[in-house]
Amino acid sequence: MELHVHVEACISGSRIESLAAEAGVPMLRPVERLFEYSTLAEFLETYEWWCDLLRTPETAEGIAYEAAALLAADGIVYADVLTGPRYWEHLDDQELILALGAGFERAHRDGLTDCRLVPSISREQSAQWAMELVEWIGAERPTRVVGLGLDGNEAVLGRTTPKFEEAYARAGELGLGRTVHAGESSGPEGVRDVLDYLHVDRIDHGVRAIEDPALTARLADEGITLNITPTSNVITGLYPDLPSHPIGRFIEAGVPVTVNSDDPLAMSVSLSGEFEAVARIHDWSFDDLVAATRRAADAAFCDETDRAALHAKVDAFLTNRAESI
Ligand code: ADE
Ligand code: ZN
Repeated sequence: MELHVHVEACISGSRIESLAAEAGVPMLRPVERLFEYSTLAEFLETYEWWCDLLRTPETAEGIAYEAAALLAADGIVYADVLTGPRYWEHLDDQELILALGAGFERAHRDGLTDCRLVPSISREQSAQWAMELVEWIGAERPTRVVGLGLDGNEAVLGRTTPKFEEAYARAGELGLGRTVHAGESSGPEGVRDVLDYLHVDRIDHGVRAIEDPALTARLADEGITLNITPTSNVITGLYPDLPSHPIGRFIEAGVPVTVNSDDPLAMSVSLSGEFEAVARIHDWSFDDLVAATRRAADAAFCDETDRAALHAKVDAFLTNRAESI
């Protein structure tokens, strides 16, 4: 199960190369070096460049389908997948969300990963844009949409969380799941802001909360799940290497954490690879990995029937494994 993955980061270099050729746009860098960056700012600049090549609803539908196929190939049965409408400048927001939902529907019918959609506000967008998006989701209930996200680079854009207080309150009233990228490009204060203003159910990253013991204790007390992405945090320069990552310290503090890929093809990561790395470097046992998967099922933005089905899949996996030993 994946709770923190961006659909725009599930596009291969060769797909981007052919979209660029089709659009008559020269490659930003040779494809072999396209996915090379060492800061969040460089990453997001490149991300914005390739997203500008995504220009039709058919492309969006296909990208969603291919993302579900990519996740399925890694053994993932369920995913809450983020999309940033602000990156798809050639498509109307509603057209985009409907097209991605249609791609996920087709993929699910074909037995691929059950992907749900979490439209994510970009921090430079307006409060009004965010509210209109939420009201439209509430009125139309577009297929597969289960939550609301917020992302972007707080180190560049500053303190933008309070601006979205009303949109998040409305999302809560409408029964949408609420998650936010925080404590990646912001310090602990960014994490505190999303708890105080947005009343989130989960936080994407959240890792810099570890710098503030009282805040870490608050995350544990309030049972806020952190959707952690170890390799992505190393690639964007937050930690020098995986052994320095604080994931283990959150577990010790009683904070529910899940393990995620964030940007699979754009950062050459997979969920299975992240599990393997965490097990090796942070000494997690098989039971620890199962517990992280259970926490993902607990925090998924699906309804209670689907949640019970996700736990039943974990039960079936464990039974099969016990029988084959
Ligand atoms: N968009 C895609 N990945 C992101 C990340 N790690 N942080 C902020 N915005 C993102
Ligand atoms: Zn992310």
